[in-house]
Amino acid sequence: MCGIIGIVGNQAVTDRLIEGLKRLEYRGYDSAGIAIMENAVSGSVLSRRRAEGKIHNLVERVAKEPVDGNLGIAHTRWATHGIANENNAHPHFAGRVGLVHNGIIENFTQLRDGLKKVRKFQTQTDTEVVAHLIDEAMKNGASAQEAFAKTIGQLTGAFALGVVIEGEDQQLFAARRGSPLAIGLGDGENYIGSDAIALASLSQKIIYLEEGDWAVLTTDSVKIFDADNAPVERPITMVSGSLAAAEKGNYKHYMLKEIYEQPETVGRTLTHYIDAFNHRVKTPEELELETLDFKNLERVTLIACGTAAYAAYVAKYWFEQLADLPTDVDIASEFRYRRPALSQNSMAIAVSQSGETADTLAALRYCQKKGLKTAALVNQMTSTMARESDYAMPINAGPEIGVASTKAFTSQLTALLSLAISSGVQRGHIDKKRETELTDALTQIPRLITETLALEPEIETLAHDLSKTENAFYMGRGVHFPLALEGALKLKEISYIHAEGYAAGELKHGPIALIEEGTPVVVIAPYDELFEKTVSNMQEVATRGAKITLITDEKGAAHTAGMAHATLVCPETQSESAPIVYAIPIQLLAYHAAVHLGTDVDQPRNLAKSVTVE
Ligand code: M6R
Repeated sequence: MCGIIGIVGNQAVTDRLIEGLKRLEYRGYDSAGIAIMENAVSGSVLSRRRAEGKIHNLVERVAKEPVDGNLGIAHTRWATHGIANENNAHPHFAGRVGLVHNGIIENFTQLRDGLKKVRKFQTQTDTEVVAHLIDEAMKNGASAQEAFAKTIGQLTGAFALGVVIEGEDQQLFAARRGSPLAIGLGDGENYIGSDAIALASLSQKIIYLEEGDWAVLTTDSVKIFDADNAPVERPITMVSGSLAAAEKGNYKHYMLKEIYEQPETVGRTLTHYIDAFNHRVKTPEELELETLDFKNLERVTLIACGTAAYAAYVAKYWFEQLADLPTDVDIASEFRYRRPALSQNSMAIAVSQSGETADTLAALRYCQKKGLKTAALVNQMTSTMARESDYAMPINAGPEIGVASTKAFTSQLTALLSLAISSGVQRGHIDKKRETELTDALTQIPRLITETLALEPEIETLAHDLSKTENAFYMGRGVHFPLALEGALKLKEISYIHAEGYAAGELKHGPIALIEEGTPVVVIAPYDELFEKTVSNMQEVATRGAKITLITDEKGAAHTAGMAHATLVCPETQSESAPIVYAIPIQLLAYHAAVHLGTDVDQPRNLAKSVTVE
């Protein structure tokens, strides 16, 4: 989604704004721009440079037409209203005002209609009207600060805003409602950014604006006001240096780096949830979730989008099997509009890497309003979901930059399995022996992931073959059904090959009609209690010409010798924790297919990392 960065500085800002935009690239965008307060002889002048497409186009534009000054805002736009072209790119100008926006102004049509007689609009965006409203208010006698405060009071929808105003050379205005925005504190300078990653090279002292907050930044002060325009203090968070280390290193893509980080990231998740030394899950007290009570819970509702939702689907099997705890999984965008029947004695858990996904956040708030206890399982502990829920639970995967989620997925699975074991223990469904067995199996996962990563050369060869197809299928049973869905999602989002995931038993109810000679089918089937059933389904499609890639273990390979076109042999894994290990080959398969096709792996077309609009 759109990214914002702004600097009110004591030295030139253009290069630093562009560097900040590059850090925001991972969020997904289709145009970029900067606005700089230039100091002309006649006074300050606001100038902008914008370009369609990637940031290097903007860099070229700035090289041809240099612009610099000590105050500026910059933006990467992910188009919602109006096509992705230079004219619709931010910053938007109106009179003395330059403005960048992330989110959607829902009442823009009414606001625009109200101004049509006095204002000429240049773009198709929902954003431009906000710049006009501020400028119009100043024309009618308001000070810059009054005009800004008045304007945000007129807006409905979700937004984060950064504003600079000609004649106010020392002030940067910011507001946050619905879309995240952070303030970075510097030495004789201050900054705004969509997240701490954008600000990583500028500041580690971060203030996260709260819902409805707005702020006025100068070089040496930051004044914050709440939704009622009352001055407020917000805590300063020191972000870890690891954010600054969100670099690609020697890897060709962030996605590959993040795939290879998984032994370590899963290890970090485990350290948080498991007491490996004592072969047990940590207690709620040890997790600083003192009042988290699974014992008396009637139901858990997991809400999420995309890959996080597939992690939640896997967790449904775990919560039901290990804890006998009825569990619903809901796609967040469907949840609140279907007016779900919620039982009071249940808990909603939002699963989200970013902790900012608009649909998941809205669903979480809906549950809060209905009186449910809420928890957020997130990668960003400073995110809105973490701050607004009763229980914030980290996955500790570290910054995930590739748009395609990989290490966050395996850490979500690891945390959810740990929580399912924990609830099984609390509900008396798991005895000490079983707890030891399950936690010991979990502690093996980082090693098993390392062993599975060694399959990469084989997977690369298979991926070349896969990249020649237009359609592919993934299938699995039990916990490997959601993994089939995730495998298909990974392949389509980065390689643009059409792919579908199915419960293995479901193909013959319709999709098998699509199988013809050579159709690739990836079968996920470790040698567990469902193996024979999955192999029967595999044979049903093989008989009809499907080209099978079987992902299994040694025992599975021995039982299916000669049946599959190719067999990837993963290390033997205890059945509950298998999806965490089997996620690796499906990630590598999608990655190499995409690399072979030459797509933009880390920033696939049309996609955004953090989807902050509904
Ligand atoms: O930040 P979140 O986990 O809430 O994001 C949810 C989805 O947008 C995300 O998982 C998306 O599906 C990824 N592109 C998948 O790779």
